[in-house]
Amino acid sequence: MSDVQYIIDESFKRLIKTYAAQPVVMDRGEGVYAYDTDGKKYIDFAAGIAVASLGHAHPAMLKTINEQAARLMAVQASYATKEKLEAAELLVDHSCFDLVYFSNSGTESVEAALKLARKWAHDEKGADATQIIAFNQSFHGRTYGSASVTSKRLSQPFFEPYIPNVDFADFNDIASVKALANEKTAAIIVEPVQGEGGLTPADPKFLKALRKLCDDLNICLIFDEVQAGFGRLGTLHAYEAFKCCDECLDGGDINAEKAHPIEPDVVAWAKGMGAGFPVGAMAAKAKFGEAFVPGTHGTTYGGNPLACAVAATVIKEMMKPGFLEHVNKMSERLVDGLKKIQRASNKITDIRGKGLMIGVDSVFPIKEVLKKLQENGMMATQAGAATLRLTPPLIIEEEQIDEALAIIEKSFAELEG
Ligand SMILES: Cc1ncc(COP(=O)(O)O)c(C=O)c1O
Repeated sequence: MSDVQYIIDESFKRLIKTYAAQPVVMDRGEGVYAYDTDGKKYIDFAAGIAVASLGHAHPAMLKTINEQAARLMAVQASYATKEKLEAAELLVDHSCFDLVYFSNSGTESVEAALKLARKWAHDEKGADATQIIAFNQSFHGRTYGSASVTSKRLSQPFFEPYIPNVDFADFNDIASVKALANEKTAAIIVEPVQGEGGLTPADPKFLKALRKLCDDLNICLIFDEVQAGFGRLGTLHAYEAFKCCDECLDGGDINAEKAHPIEPDVVAWAKGMGAGFPVGAMAAKAKFGEAFVPGTHGTTYGGNPLACAVAATVIKEMMKPGFLEHVNKMSERLVDGLKKIQRASNKITDIRGKGLMIGVDSVFPIKEVLKKLQENGMMATQAGAATLRLTPPLIIEEEQIDEALAIIEKSFAELEG
């Protein structure tokens, strides 16, 4: 038996089966490429599902991790450190938020956001203000709170009871939200681009209408930017990529000159924020963030010096001149190339998404598409029922976009033949 088969089989025996087994074993990564244990090279359009935002083995990441690990890795969460302060300052200075809470993952950031909103609503509107509105095709994580606002719960009755008083509206349909919302609604949670649901971007007019509804009824608006945040949409934060003006609320068109980002009250971050290192955060406008006081919530690892040093490095890399413009340029090149394949082969039925978070629907079964891409040296992932999700590292270059497009074209041609 080969080493590869041994590792796969023995892992299958010992691990609780939360994921289906892949036929290869990954070994190392460099830039936008990953290599399996047989030395085969893959262009990485999965990036750990929008995680490796700076690619693999980025020099600034290696320097930070090595230096910080040698200095201080763990300290009781109640201590301030200069690393935690620097990361918090960078997050606050480059966003619309005032206060930050560090976590270790996306689901923990969402969990913190939901608990903060419920605490704020309890203090502000009373003990019965518990309703949370989420959306069909949403994904927010797998702990009980975040699973409770994830639409998949509707097909997972074996985990019931979920947290009570959660209702699901239709994404991009403000009337369906208005039908559910009232003064006792604590929060509305929405992904600016639905990731697991199939790479569907919110209509900026929809987000603007959500903002107005939350202002009118004093509801906490939470954006889940776990997948779409940290440069992925060509802006540091996902909310900055959705601009709208007041006229839109009366059905008018978006006036680019008057348009401004639609700001949530609370946000959940993770994935690209650590570029491969497990770190997340929940941030809030002061009025909401002040609802937590010592003892209300916390975490052993959240805000540890190593994670914060990494997050600060990631933000500083992303704030370097030209970084975000580069993401937008690469997005354009990728989408143009996909459209060209679509026109030539007629096998792509839809291309959607934003920035370097692109979904492709095709006439081929998604499992076969992913298998063929892997055979041809490209890693990607599935989203929704049958969407090919392309989330490469944000440092990808033009020739690497072209290389991936050539693999996609070849793979579709082989699937057809
Ligand atoms: C939008 C969104 N929220 C939350 C999560 C959960 O993040 P994690 O897997 O780090 O807990 C994910 C993960 O895919 C996500 O895409």
